This record gives sequence, structure tokens and C-alpha cells, in this order.
Amino acid sequence: MQTKQIYYEDEYKKTLEAKVISIEKYDSMANIILDQTIFYPEGGGQPSDQGVIRGKSGSLEVQQTIIKNGEVVHIGRLVGNLVENEVVECNIDWDRRYKNMRTHSAGHIVNDAVQTLFPALIPVEAEHGKKSFIKYQGNLSQISSTIILEKANEIINENLPIKTEFVSFDELKKRATWIPENLPKSKPLRIMQIGNYSIIPDGGTQVKKTGEIIRISEINVTNKDIYVYIHYKIESIPEHPEVENKNLDSNISYSSYNSNDIINTKNQAIAQISGAKDNEELEQIRIDLFGRNGKITNILKGIKNVPQDQRQQIGILINETKKTLEGMLLDQKNSFKENAREWFDPTIPGIKKEVGHAHLVTQAINQIQSVFERIGFRRARYPEVEWDWFAFEALNMPKGHPARDEWETFFVNNPENSRFGKMVLTPHTSSGQVREMQRLKVPPIRMINIAKCYRRQSDISHVQMFHQFEGMVIDENISIVNLKGTLDYFAQTFFGSTRKTRLRPYHFQFTEPSFEIDISCGICNGVGCKVCKAGWLEMGGAGMVHPNVLKAGGVNPKKYSGFAFGWGVERVLMMQSGLAIPDVRMIYSPDLRFLTQF
Ligand code: DAH
Repeated sequence: MQTKQIYYEDEYKKTLEAKVISIEKYDSMANIILDQTIFYPEGGGQPSDQGVIRGKSGSLEVQQTIIKNGEVVHIGRLVGNLVENEVVECNIDWDRRYKNMRTHSAGHIVNDAVQTLFPALIPVEAEHGKKSFIKYQGNLSQISSTIILEKANEIINENLPIKTEFVSFDELKKRATWIPENLPKSKPLRIMQIGNYSIIPDGGTQVKKTGEIIRISEINVTNKDIYVYIHYKIESIPEHPEVENKNLDSNISYSSYNSNDIINTKNQAIAQISGAKDNEELEQIRIDLFGRNGKITNILKGIKNVPQDQRQQIGILINETKKTLEGMLLDQKNSFKENAREWFDPTIPGIKKEVGHAHLVTQAINQIQSVFERIGFRRARYPEVEWDWFAFEALNMPKGHPARDEWETFFVNNPENSRFGKMVLTPHTSSGQVREMQRLKVPPIRMINIAKCYRRQSDISHVQMFHQFEGMVIDENISIVNLKGTLDYFAQTFFGSTRKTRLRPYHFQFTEPSFEIDISCGICNGVGCKVCKAGWLEMGGAGMVHPNVLKAGGVNPKKYSGFAFGWGVERVLMMQSGLAIPDVRMIYSPDLRFLTQF
């Protein structure tokens, strides 16, 4: 065959450009062979296509397309002139073709229904044109027509895909359940299959989905000799969906409609769904149909206006329509998924899940706690909202004492307590000293109190809320030697084994003597550099617990002595990691670019 059979490649193609290979004229008629065609020639029970082939100075009104001597021949009335090698435009009568195609596919559906229900019947012959029937060898009762009709419409409502494929005769023999006589053995043959029903040789054109048939309206069973004829009719649609799409909306009134209106809506929806390019478009179509003001929703609402005698029939049609469209939407959605899957590239690195972690201050607190626990300290925690008495008075700073000014304290606006005074937000962890003594009553005491502290200060080196860790040891014979040993241990464990500490005399009300503790600079090793003050970095306060403080805690200063120190968590954290954070407040910002670095 010289002609490329485009009707097999795209069964929905309505126009095509082709070249005239040969033209045979007689009277006002002509036979034309093209290099490719969309005109389906008669065969397999399907009538041939009609239409027009237009050239530069004439056209052929195609009345019939046939296969003659192995070639597709377009036969019709010639108006004007067409010549060999001329490029022409083909247009098929689409309404006729689509009706034929639907009728043809419907025949296969009826056959699948019959074969499923009555496997003993042997198909002999079929016609899917003006007369549409299938002839079987066997016998069947009239009653069967209802069951066949039901089964066939069920296949339509399932909206199953109809697949076609070219195979060799040998393969066809292996796969097809039924083989007609006289099949040529040397050339590729076409098979078709509806959903998972049986594979059947077929040369006609097929719709893509069974739903396009809409409905088989009638089945008639007649027996003649040893044969049974099953005649069928399909629901007619006035025009093909695509033609009527444009003006459909304005025509249908949801308060009064008939079955044609529903069928139109269905056809339009089917065309839209099959043409949807992505999920977004599909979702819009779904909303247009089934949304609150959707077409199907409105049709359902309008059922009460349908005359009583038609209501049942229309109701069935609506439900079938609904089922078909819902199924189609789902199928199309799944097909997007499948297509998307095709693009899956297993070599693309996966998306890493963000895993959170403890805040850097929490990390430092945990570390500090474990360093002290190793030498017998016990972690303590005391109220963040504290009495003035524990924060100041018990620490040898009576009301109005000028030393209090150093702690820019937040006071809580509530009634004063006659014994403990006002309420404050703990300005330092030293407030835990007296509480710990009161709790344990009898030394030895080894406390590490790590807690939040609050002061009315905010600048690049202060935040209103920060953390301190307060160490306190009380026992018999505790001296500065023990303090120095503890500080060295902490410095070397937390910062590194080469680090040293030194005590610088200072003044605190709650310690006597009091010191500022310095630690040797990790960068210059105590020699002196830009970062440190002549080789040393300031850490925080310490000293021997003042006898008045011991007394306030109920500890006998004559028998016991103790040391204490209180440093900033944020400060040691920054010193340990060599972090040059330009502003401490950054530590408490929610900025993940900062936080994820730790
Ligand atoms: N509480 C003091 C402050 O916040 C620090 C301090 C100094 C704590 C000396 C102590 C100490 O335990 O002995 O500035």
C-alpha cells in the first residue's frame, strides 16, 4: 500500500495535508490515491468516511472510500480539477465518522457483554453501520436482551480504555481469543481490547474510552436457524462534543432540561477531561461539574422540575453520567501521576529533611552541668520569679544598699511580703545560694545552679534574659585553695588542658574575700594579643561565702566555710568556641541562618 493510514495513528484527526499520488477521472467522477489519508475505507463492518479533498483549483467530494487492489481509493464527484503531485487538504465528515466510530466500538462492547454472559455463543459476522448487529452461532432467549443491555452499559459507565495495536499474525494467534477466516498472514494485523476483556482482531476505528458511547439504548435478540442476531442501537448525540462545546453553557437551563441536555453536558465534560493538561486544569473542571454551583450539581438539583413520568429515566441517565465523569476524572488524574512517574530521576539527590537540634545555649548548659557533675556537684534550679530577700537581703545587701544598683532589677508589681519584701525576676543565680542552704540544712553542699536571669539591659553585650551558672561548695575546712582547684578543673575541662586561671581582688557584698576570675587567653596562651587584656580574659565573680550569708541560710559560720562563683553561660559559650558574635542578642533571634550553624 502506498498510502500511510493516518486514521490508525490518530483516530480523532479531522483534517490533514496530503499529496495526490494518482488521479483517475471518468465523467464528473474521480478516484484518488493519496500519500497519506484520514479517510477510513469500508471494512470490518464499519462504513467508510466521506468528506472533501481540496486542491488549488478544485476539489473531490468524497462519497466513498474503499480498498481496491490493496490501495485506499477516495471516490467522489470532482469539481474543478486536481492533478498528480498536488498538495491537498483533506476534511472528513466528522459527525458521520464519530457516529460510526462510536457504533463500531459499541458493537465490541456488546460482544464483550455477550461473551461474558454467554460464552457458548460463537461470533460469525457483524455490521456496525446503518444496521448494527452481531451474528452468533447458537441460541438465546428474548429475555437475555435486558441482561446484555445492562452489562454493556456497565462497561460504558466504567469508562474503560480501548487499546489498539499492530501485531504479527503469529502473535495475534497467541493473544486473540477469536480469529476470523481469511486473515492475511504476511502483513501486520490490528488487534483491539476493551479494558481487560478479550483481545480481538479489528480493522476499524475506535473511540478512546467506552464512556464516549454514552449509552446503548436498545438491544434486540432474534433467533434464526442455528444463528442468533443481536441488534443494538446507541444513544444518538446531536453533534460531536467539540462542535457544541462553545455554545452549550448558554443553552442549558438547569431548572428545565431534557435527556439531550444531560448528554450534551456529559459530552462536553468528556472532551474537557480528555483534553486537560494538568491537575490544576482537571480540578477546575471538577469544580465546574461537581462544585456547589457545578453543572451536574445543578442538574441534580433540577430533577424536581422534571415531569413525573420522565423522572426515573432521567434520574438513571444523570447517575450514569455522574459515575462516568467521576471515573474519568480519576483516570485522568492517575494518568498524570503515571506520566509524572516517567520523569522520576533516581540520580537526583533527595530532599534532606531539616532536623532540629538543641539551641546552642542549651548545649552549653548541658555541657557545663556534666563537667560539674563529674566532681560531685548537683544541679539545682530555683524560681525565676523570686523574693527580694533571696536575691539581695540574704546576700548581705539590705534594703537601700548602694551595691544593689549593679543589678538592674525587674520588680514585679504585687503586694510586698512582710518578711521577703517585693518580688523580682532573678537578676542573678546567687539567689539560689540561701535557698540551697535552707533546703539541705546540713553541709556538705555542692550545688551547680544554672538558670535564667533578668536585667533591664539591652545592648550588643547584654540581653534582658540570659543565663548564669552558680557554683557553691560549703563544708568544714573549705578554703580559697578549693576554689582555685575547682576553677582550674573547669577551665581545663571546658576550654582545654593548657588553660590557667587567676584570681583578682574585687568586691561583692556576699563574699569575703571576693575575686574576679580571669582565664588565660586561648589564642596567645597568656602572652597578650588583640583579643585579650595582656594575656587574660575576664570570666566572672567568685569568693568565700560571707558569714552573714551562711547565717541567713541557717549554716553555722563558725563550723563551716564555703566558696561560690557565678558566671554567664553565654559568655563562656562564646569564649569556648572562639565565636566572635558581634551582638549577643543574635543568640536569641529566631533566624535559622544563624541557629542552624550550631
Ligand atoms: N552574682 C554575681 C553577678 O551576677 C556573680 C557572682 C559573684 C556570683 C561572686 C558569686 C560570687 O557566687 O561569689 O554578677
